[in-house]
Amino acid sequence: MSKNQPKTIYLKDYKKPDFSIEKTQLTFELEDEYTLVTSTLSIKREQAGQPLRLHGQELELVSVKVAGRLLSQEEYDQDDEFLTVADVPDVFEFECVTKIYPQNNASLEGLYKSNTMYCTQCEAEGFRKITYYLDRPDVLSEFTTTIIADKKQYPVLLSNGNKIQEEKLVDGRHKTVWHDPHLKPCYLFALVAGDLIHIDDHFVTASGREVLLRIFVEEKDKKKCAHAMTSLKNAMKWDEEVYGREYDLDIFMIVAVDDFNMGAMENKGLNIFNTSCVLAAQETTTDEAFQRVEGVVAHEYFHNWSGNRVTCRDWFQLSLKEGFTVFRDAEFSADMGSRTVKRVEDVSLLRSMQFAEDAGPMAHPVQPSSFIEISNFYTLTIYEKGAEVVRMIHTLLGPELFRKGSDLYFERHDGQAVTIEDFVAAMRDVSGRDFDQFMNWYRQAGTPDLRVTSKYDEEQKTYTLNFKQSCRATSESAEKKPFHIPVAMGLLGEAGALPLKCDGVVSPETNDNTHCVLEITEAEQSFTFENVQECPVPSLLRNFSAPVKLRYRYSRDELLTLMSRDEDGFCRWDACQELAIQVIQEVMTELTTEPAPSVDEKIITGYKRLLTDETLDPAMVALMLKLPSEGYIAELQTVADMDLIHHARARVERKLAVALKDEFMSTYLRMNEQTEFAVDSASIARRSLKNAALHYLMVHASAEHVELCKEQFYTANNMTDEYGALKAIVHSSKASLKDLKQEVLESFYAKWKHEPLVVNQWFAVQSTAPIPETNKTVNELLTHEAFDLKNPNKLRALIGGFSMRNPICFHDKSGSGYRFLGEQIRKLNSQNPQVAARLLTPLTKWKKFDEGRQKLMLAELQKIEQLPDLSKDVYEVVTKSIHS
Ligand code: TRP
Ligand code: ZN
Repeated sequence: MSKNQPKTIYLKDYKKPDFSIEKTQLTFELEDEYTLVTSTLSIKREQAGQPLRLHGQELELVSVKVAGRLLSQEEYDQDDEFLTVADVPDVFEFECVTKIYPQNNASLEGLYKSNTMYCTQCEAEGFRKITYYLDRPDVLSEFTTTIIADKKQYPVLLSNGNKIQEEKLVDGRHKTVWHDPHLKPCYLFALVAGDLIHIDDHFVTASGREVLLRIFVEEKDKKKCAHAMTSLKNAMKWDEEVYGREYDLDIFMIVAVDDFNMGAMENKGLNIFNTSCVLAAQETTTDEAFQRVEGVVAHEYFHNWSGNRVTCRDWFQLSLKEGFTVFRDAEFSADMGSRTVKRVEDVSLLRSMQFAEDAGPMAHPVQPSSFIEISNFYTLTIYEKGAEVVRMIHTLLGPELFRKGSDLYFERHDGQAVTIEDFVAAMRDVSGRDFDQFMNWYRQAGTPDLRVTSKYDEEQKTYTLNFKQSCRATSESAEKKPFHIPVAMGLLGEAGALPLKCDGVVSPETNDNTHCVLEITEAEQSFTFENVQECPVPSLLRNFSAPVKLRYRYSRDELLTLMSRDEDGFCRWDACQELAIQVIQEVMTELTTEPAPSVDEKIITGYKRLLTDETLDPAMVALMLKLPSEGYIAELQTVADMDLIHHARARVERKLAVALKDEFMSTYLRMNEQTEFAVDSASIARRSLKNAALHYLMVHASAEHVELCKEQFYTANNMTDEYGALKAIVHSSKASLKDLKQEVLESFYAKWKHEPLVVNQWFAVQSTAPIPETNKTVNELLTHEAFDLKNPNKLRALIGGFSMRNPICFHDKSGSGYRFLGEQIRKLNSQNPQVAARLLTPLTKWKKFDEGRQKLMLAELQKIEQLPDLSKDVYEVVTKSIHS
């Protein structure tokens, strides 16, 4: 730990900045051994009597001038975090020169090198590693950036906005000047210098502005940019059509870099991307990755309005831009592909990962009230739950009013740094609705439990639903106030959906005949439907209308009814999940006394119907065939027994594989009919169902199935099929496949070792294999020639894959998984604190497990806590999870 205890920052302590910075002029001189940064700021006092305090971290200060006069050392004060000048005028020019060492910067924050390229990452508080500044999002400034570097090594020099000057200098150097006319906070600043090629395209905005679109990559990746470019153009068009938002500069640039802590960054006019979120090609990229590229390109582009034009007042408002932008990109992806599939994927992620976060020691509200290190708050709660909260506003208002609200928000706050309250106020003002109680979604952590019971009155022909909500205590609030929960629903009768008639409480805009939204605002509340001619099956929480744990005791027959007949695609999928959970949980109970329990035939009936009804959407069938994840089942237990969960789930899977092997085979063959390769949703759907069927065939793994899988592996013309077959072999629990596993892994590596993103897949397929050898394999892979402890993608594939996506191996009762992770975190702590803290997540969930595992996990956390040079990031996660 650095000398002083890291301190907690509170939302309630927010104060407006003491100074504003009207203009920011930066000059970067890139030398081999260091970089010189000269910063000239036009500063204006906003609060009387305050000293000038600028953020700065790990900077070597060369000189400071105030109003043209060089300051002596007595005239300023410097510590770990600030440069303070006690006495400054009300309006003045501030100039400072700092020396930094990007080539040694492994944190990937501030200015750093990725391969041969210079790039920056300033969000959230990385700009202070470049120069002294008011590094807070509510200080907006006009930036001009000059870059000077060797022309041969760094022919391309980029920053935000428009290029206004280019000049050849002596000694083979050159200089480029960029000017960004839009005011922005420094977290949106970016600089790139490197030897890059670019591909170009154009977009004409609705009002006729011609925009140059330019994607920069290394020469070898030139052929892999088309998908990102198409996605960008689609996103630009969509934002005009759906939100009325146009782009506002003459050029929009994307740069792809190999070493990046996250997916991508929305720097004004110059987005910087992880290569994994830009590059895509048929041979090297799975469908899942293609879709991620589309989603992330859109996400960053959408930030130009939700984030850049209107930005955050402080970092407690992070979800203002992230929650809203994730909602926007999810809707975009839904419109580009299959709406239901996108929704199911997002809900699965939310339930298996965000619910766990909300149940663990790092639980925090969507608008946190305190933090130690803001980098730790780029979480599933801020992003995914934040998007769910925006979605609920959309559900409550309906699409037209929501659009009016977003128009008002952008119009009112263009060019400002604002709060979540400002966003909700715009929604309130256009609708006249009261959002006071709704704000609990932003201010209280934890996933609400929503228990539902029903009663049918045969005589009165009434049907009553009773809702009880509750939420566990979390650090910011012990007693939870009730949430305002929109529950979209319908009732199913023998012959189809029943008409709904319920007094007063049904929101009128959304109340058509068979579908409505109930608004639950009390701890306990009932709704009575009249004129219900038969006892119905309730279809609840359609489209997952609120991020809650809904509990209703469905019979298995009711679930089969919902699965095949509900009008809501999400509910059909969810009924299938619920059926599988019930069956798996039953096997879990029986496994404690009986080594070979039976599996309820009902699930086989349900799955058989899915496989044989050729009118169903293959994408939906593929999703429904996937049994609930071990992580989600664990979430439903008080003490998670990973071995039991794994064995019960595997038993159900095996039962299905055996009972339906002919159906799986004919489905496979039906989906495998030769067609041209394409990445539209229909083709993706066919491949996903084909590979889901292959997975079940490989559970069975007779000689015939293995041949089929090998054939797919060696002849596939695309990565989805090649990887699907590879995974089916490598993840198989059959001992007889040992040699084949080695053969396909070697062949895959030999074929793809020059493609870093494919090599990541090769690491991931091994680290996530739910087989006993994996704990040894992951240790060996650490010393593989292709592994690189400095590259976050490699860390995520090997260490993240093992600890987050392979519960059975990670939780091995010997503790070997925990020790493996603990060791890696200790190695990474000072080198890349952001990634170290993130990889630590699985250990923070220690309270969820049995006593033996708790001890082992806690021991690893304590060993990390004892590190002499603990980073702020790791410190916060480790101490909160040990001591809360
Ligand atoms: N704002 C980025 C986004 O679009 C997130 C991000 C990119 C980030 N790089 C980062 C956050 C580094 C923290 C640190 O979601
Ligand atoms: Zn974002």
